[in-house]
This record gives sequence, structure tokens and C-alpha cells, in this order.
Amino acid sequence: MRIFVSRPLPEQAMERLARRFEVAVGPADRATTAAEVLAGAREADALISMLSDRIDAAFLDACPRLRVVANYAVGVNNIDLRAAAERGVHVTNTPGVLTDATADLAFGLLLSVARRIPESERFLRAGRFDGWAPLLFLGADVAGARLGIVGMGRIGQAMAVRARAFGMEVVYVQRRPLDPARERELGARYVSLEELLSTSDFVSLHCPLTPETHHLIDARALARMKPGAILINTARGPVVDETALVEALRSGQLGGAGLDVFEEEPKVHPGLLDRDDVVLTPHTGSATRGTRLRMAMMVCEDVERVLDGRPPLHPVNEPVAGGRR
Ligand code: GLV
Ligand code: GLV
Repeated sequence: MRIFVSRPLPEQAMERLARRFEVAVGPADRATTAAEVLAGAREADALISMLSDRIDAAFLDACPRLRVVANYAVGVNNIDLRAAAERGVHVTNTPGVLTDATADLAFGLLLSVARRIPESERFLRAGRFDGWAPLLFLGADVAGARLGIVGMGRIGQAMAVRARAFGMEVVYVQRRPLDPARERELGARYVSLEELLSTSDFVSLHCPLTPETHHLIDARALARMKPGAILINTARGPVVDETALVEALRSGQLGGAGLDVFEEEPKVHPGLLDRDDVVLTPHTGSATRGTRLRMAMMVCEDVERVLDGRPPLHPVNEPVAGGRR
């Protein structure tokens, strides 16, 4: 059976796949183009896709042998889950194993923006540090500040744990509140989006990208935020209206932003690139050696299971029985 792997995974995973399957793989040093993914998947039984690969109905129709699309990511907004289900194609993802890594980066961005670490490091490297000074690079207080978490799934909860350890107060929004025992354990309080936005010193986004969360943080939401608040986004770029964000930073309504994801990756709004109150990372939330290896083993296992006729361990859709494969 044939597998197309859109980008090379850690070596151990490539070796594991090669033991059982005929494996073709996309380029190591650049993004795979849409045409290349299609060409690779056309005759394949399984596709290991990246979050940058758009898998829609037309794509699936052009790949009649495909039985599973294993997304090398927890977010699956790049895949039309229903179109896949209708065609009998399983879709899987990599939940759990990247929770801590992603929350670490989110909290790292929060601290970086609050304490102006990249900006002050640039200053030092430029040879401008001429001694300790009482007013040098004053930042925002973290302990005692309120963090508003939008999306209290696994990563949001891990962010809450970090925030509490740093002495922050935590409020959150999500479709449904956590159960009271878990809320108490996390020390987090369920509030309305309105209250979260208008009272939080930091707002961190951890929701999936869906039609409901697209531009959830738009000009109106930004205007309702506490003046000088800091926005952190390690979820998906389009949850934020990037143009409105740049405007809110320019006007001083927002005090800063820490962003790992962007509306039109790999493009970054030029209005963000030249700002010192913004810290930017290249979508590296899950990028630790251990995490990426665990993600790779997870997609390997689910590909193997589906091709062996067993249900995947991390399904995100339910292929209709009697679908065409
Ligand atoms: C990364 O963004 C992921 O969804 O895993
Ligand atoms: C700072 O370096 C201090 O000692 O307070």
C-alpha cells in the first residue's frame, strides 16, 4: 500500500512507515505545493497531511484510493471533515501530545511581551546597554494580573495551570463551562466573552478555528478590551482580524501582542513586523523534539490501523458506513 507524507517527519517515523508501506514524501526544505500534495496523494491509500495542506471535496474526489488523511497537527480546520466522511475517508489528528509544548510557547510569548524580552535583547545586542537604570524597559506585571483564556480545551487548561503558578487570576470562555471540580482544581472562573475582554490584562486564544471563531477577535472585540491589554495567539491566525489588530496596536488600545499564528501564513502583516511591542514566532507551538516525535508516532499508528481495517485511535470524523471505500 502507498502512503504520501506531505513533509518529512522525524526519522524514526519515516523508518516505521517504510517497513510496511511504499512511501513517497514531499520536500524537506520548503512547503509542499498544493499540486505536489495532489500528485502525491492521487494514487495513495493514506495521506499524512500538514496543517498547510487544504483537503477539500475536490481533492478527495481526485484521490479515489485514499482511506485515511492523518493530519500532523491537532487543528483540523484545513480539512473538510464532512466531505471526507461522506467519501468514507477517515480523518485523524494528534491531540494531547502537544498540549504542554503549545502552552509553554503561549506562556513564553506572554512573558516575552510583558517583560519585553526580545526588544530589550535587540537593544543589548546593538551595544546600547550602558548600565542598570531604574526606568529601563519597564514592562507589565504578571503576578496579580488577570488572564482571560478563550477556549478551555486541553491547551487552554494547560495555560491556566501555568498562569496560576505565576500568580495570575484566570477567567475563561468556552461553549460550555468545565465541571465545577475541574474549575476549582484549575482555579479558573467561567465568564462571558464581554467580561473576559473588558477585564483581562492578558487574553490568550486556545480555541479551534471554525466558522464561529473566524475573526472572533475583530475591531469590536479589540475595542472592548482593557486599554493596554496584551493579546496572545497560538491557536489559528484567522481567529483574529489581523488588520484590526495592527490598528489597535497603532492606536495604543492594545499594549502588545504575542503571535505564533497568522491570518495568511506564511505571510505576516507588515504592520506587525516593525513593532517592538509585538513578539512573533513562526507557528512553532508544538515544535519540540519530543512532541514532534510523539505526533509522528501517533499519525503512523492511525495510518497503520486504518489500512489494517481497524478504527483509528484519534478520529475526528465518522466515515459513513458503506462510503465508497
Ligand atoms: C498546530 O498548529 C496544530 O494544530 O497542531
Ligand atoms: C536588581 O538587580 C536588584 O538587585 O534589585
